[in-house]
Amino acid sequence: MKRLYKIESATRLADRVYEYWIRAPQVAQHARAGQFVILRLHDAGERIPLTISAVRGDAVRVIFMTVGKTTEELATLHAGDSIKDVVGPLGKPSEIENYGTCCVIGGGVGIASTPLIAKELKSAGNRVIGIIGARNADLLILEDEMRETCDELHITTDDGSKGVHGFAADVLKKLLEEQTIDRVWIVGPAIMMKVTSGATVPYGVKTYVSLNPIMVDGTGMCGSCRVTVAGETKFACVDGPEFDAHQVDFAELMQRQRIYTGQEKASLERFAEHRCRCSEGGHHHE
Ligand SMILES: Cc1cc2nc3c(=O)[nH]c(=O)nc-3n(C[C@H](O)[C@H](O)[C@H](O)COP(=O)(O)OP(=O)(O)OC[C@H]3O[C@@H](n4cnc5c(N)ncnc54)[C@H](O)[C@@H]3O)c2cc1C
Ligand code: FES
Repeated sequence: MKRLYKIESATRLADRVYEYWIRAPQVAQHARAGQFVILRLHDAGERIPLTISAVRGDAVRVIFMTVGKTTEELATLHAGDSIKDVVGPLGKPSEIENYGTCCVIGGGVGIASTPLIAKELKSAGNRVIGIIGARNADLLILEDEMRETCDELHITTDDGSKGVHGFAADVLKKLLEEQTIDRVWIVGPAIMMKVTSGATVPYGVKTYVSLNPIMVDGTGMCGSCRVTVAGETKFACVDGPEFDAHQVDFAELMQRQRIYTGQEKASLERFAEHRCRCSEGGHHHE
C-alpha cells in the first residue's frame, strides 16, 4: 500500500540540527518513551532510525543531526513535503516505574530523547533531575521543555559558554555524592554514554543507555544492530534500544559503528555533488 507521511513543520534548532513534526497517526497513537521510528524518504532511499522525541495529536516529533547522506537529504525537505515510510513505534519502551528519584541525561542530539522519558517518569510519580549537555550553548536544544518537565535541570557545555563548564558525568558524580538517585537514563554519543554511566558503577545505581548501532530493517532479521550486553548477543532494534549500561560492550559498539565509514563518505559525496547540480537554493526552514 502506498502511504505518504506529511511533514507538518520543519524547524532548524541549531547548527545541523532539525526538528520535524511528521503526521503519522498509527505511530503517534502507540508511541512510548524510548522508542524510535525508521524513516525511508523515497523508494530508493536508505532506512534511518530516529528516536520519537514527542507526540502531539496525530504527529510525532523527530530531532536529527545531519551526519551523512540520508540526514542531509531529510534536511532539504520542508513543511508540506512528504516522506515515503515512517515505520514504528519500534523497540522496547523505557522501563518506567515509580523508583523515587531519577536522573535523565542527554548529550548533544541525544537530548531529543529526554523530554518524553522525563515526562513519563514524572507521570509515574518520580522526582526527575535532568542534565543536558552540548559542546557549546548554541548546540543546546530543548532547554525550556526540559526545565518545564523536570523538578531540577542542570546544563553543561564543553566550552563553558552556558551552565557548568564540563561534562554531564561531572554533574552526575556530584549529585550522587549528595543524594540517593534510584535510576539513571543516558542518551548521547557512545563515548559519552560509556563515560557517564561509569559514574554510577560505584553506587550500584541501575543505569540505562540507548544504543545507536547501525540499523537496517529494525525488525530483528538482518543482524546489523547486533550488540553485546552481559556477554550475550542482542539486537538493539528489538531487544533495546535501551540496555543496562553497566553490561554493555561499548568498545564493540563503537568499532561496529565505524564499519561502513568509507561507503558512507562516498555516498554523502555523491549526494552533495547531485545536490549542487540540481538545486540553486539552500535550506529554507522556519
Ligand atoms: C535507535 C536509534 C535512534 C536514533 N535516534 C536518532 C535521533 O533521534 N537523532 C539523530 O540525529 N540520530 C539518531 N540516530 C542515528 C541516526 O539513525 C543516524 O545518524 C543516521 O542513520 C545516519 O544516516 P545518514 O545516511 O545521514 O549517515 P551515514 O552516512 O549513513 O552515516 C553517518 C554516521 O551515522 C551512523 N549510522 C549510519 N547509519 C545508521 C543507522 N542505520 N543507524 C544508526 N546509525 C547509523 C554511522 O555509523 C556514521 O557514524 C539513531 C540511531 C538509532 C539506532
Ligand atoms: S536492524 Fe536488523 S536486526 Fe536490528
